[in-house]
Amino acid sequence: MALPVVVFLLALIALGAASAPDCKELVKPFMPEDPKQVFGKWIYVMGAGDPKQYHKALESLKSSWIDLSPTSSDQTVTLRWRDHCFNRCIVGEANATISGIATTFRKNLSDHKGHILQTCSDCLLWTDTFRNGDVTGRYILQFTRTGKIDPKHVEIFKKQVGCLNFPEDYHSYDGKTGQQLSKNLQRQSFNSHRVEILPWEMSYLSAIVFRSSLFLD
Ligand SMILES: *[C@@H]1O[C@H](CO)[C@@H](O)[C@H](O)[C@H]1NC(C)=O
Ligand SMILES: *[C@@H]1O[C@H](CO)[C@@H](O)[C@H](O)[C@H]1NC(C)=O
Repeated sequence: MALPVVVFLLALIALGAASAPDCKELVKPFMPEDPKQVFGKWIYVMGAGDPKQYHKALESLKSSWIDLSPTSSDQTVTLRWRDHCFNRCIVGEANATISGIATTFRKNLSDHKGHILQTCSDCLLWTDTFRNGDVTGRYILQFTRTGKIDPKHVEIFKKQVGCLNFPEDYHSYDGKTGQQLSKNLQRQSFNSHRVEILPWEMSYLSAIVFRSSLFLD
C-alpha cells in the first residue's frame, strides 16, 4: 500500500478507537441504590444547553445551588434552588415526580423531564428536555457537593457532553469569581451577546430533581 493510504487507514482506526470509549457507557442513566445519596445541597459546576440560546443563558449564571429533599412520598422530591443570574438572586421551589429513571416537574408553564447520569463520586449530573408551548430545549448540568471538580472528571464530562451532542464549549463556574467560559474563543460572544431569555427559563437551570446520585465507587 502507498504510504498515504496506510496513514489514512491508521487515522480511521484511531478515530474508531477514540469514539469507541463507549458513549453508550458514558451516558447511561444512573439509578443509585440509595436515594438518600442524592439529597441535600449541590453546587453547580458546569453545564451546556441546546439550542444555542439556552447554552448562552448559562453564561449569565454567576452561581447556583440546588437542594433536594425527600417528602412523605417516595415518588416525590422537593427541589429548592437559588441562582445568581441577571444580577439578581432567583429562588424557587418545585415538587418533582419520579417514575423509574425519569423525573418530571413543571416550572411555571414549562414541563421538564430528565434523569441523572453516571458521574464521579460526590457529583450529580443531570440532563433533561423541557417544553413550554412551542419552545423546547435541553440541558446537561454538573453539580458537586463542594463546587469543585477534579480536572480528570472535567474530561469525562466533556466526553459525555460530546456523546449527547451538546455544544462542546461547555460553561463552567469556578466557585468563586463567577461564571467563566471554558474556551477563550467564547469571550467575544460573552461580552457582546445580550442573552434574551426570560427569567423563568433561567431559574429553571437549577430546577432539577432526581432520585439519586452518582456515587460510583
Ligand atoms: C410540594 O408538596 C408539598 C407537600 O405536598 C406542599 O406542601 C408544597 O406546597 C409543594 N410545593 C410546591 C412548590 O408545589
Ligand atoms: C412564573 O412564575 C412566577 C412566580 O410564580 C411569575 O411571576 C411569572 O410571571 C411566571 N412566568 C410565566 C412565564 O408564567
